[in-house]
Amino acid sequence: MRLAVLVSGTGTILEAMIARPLPIAVVIADRPCRALEVARAAPVPSELVDRYDHGGFSQSFDREGYTEALTRALLERRIDLVAMAGFGTITTAHFADAFPGRVLNTHPSLLPQFPGWRAVKEALASAVPMTGCTVHLMTAEVDAGAILAQESVEVRPDDSEATLHERIKVVERRLYPTVIEGVLEGLRQGREPAEYGH
Ligand code: GRF
Repeated sequence: MRLAVLVSGTGTILEAMIARPLPIAVVIADRPCRALEVARAAPVPSELVDRYDHGGFSQSFDREGYTEALTRALLERRIDLVAMAGFGTITTAHFADAFPGRVLNTHPSLLPQFPGWRAVKEALASAVPMTGCTVHLMTAEVDAGAILAQESVEVRPDDSEATLHERIKVVERRLYPTVIEGVLEGLRQGREPAEYGH
């Protein structure tokens, strides 16, 4: 089974995956970032499919063109399972369609609560006593695919966005690699991830 990990940021979840170890065939970053340095230092195969080649963060960002470049890179490497780990580009449906039911994501809230980029900030602002993280399947709709695993994290009165996010990430670094191991084992036995989602 060939696993690809998609990253954009600090890559601490990627570090936990490498340490496990998970059988990572390639790490793909959408921009130069620490996570890419983590992959290079490990070393695990890595590739920069740079969104700055497709308009970066400007109005003219070519989402379709970027999605095609990313999808091509994954297909060329005959990837069976894709795990997004802090990947910051929203792709078009073309990507999810190319790997139906085979793209996983970890999100720092208890979905369906607080989808989107500001999940930790919104949990704090809403004064909920508990938040957490969710490992789910990626579909064309953002943060809406079948849920594979969730774990709660307490919100403390003195939490900042940074302290709360870090406590959530401690859980993600353990939960996400564990779920991926289970999914890979299921795939080896012919079971698709969606069969144990809800
Ligand atoms: C995680 O909280 C993940 O849920 C979110 O981005 C963060 C990635 O952290 N999508 P890191 O780059 O692995 O440290």
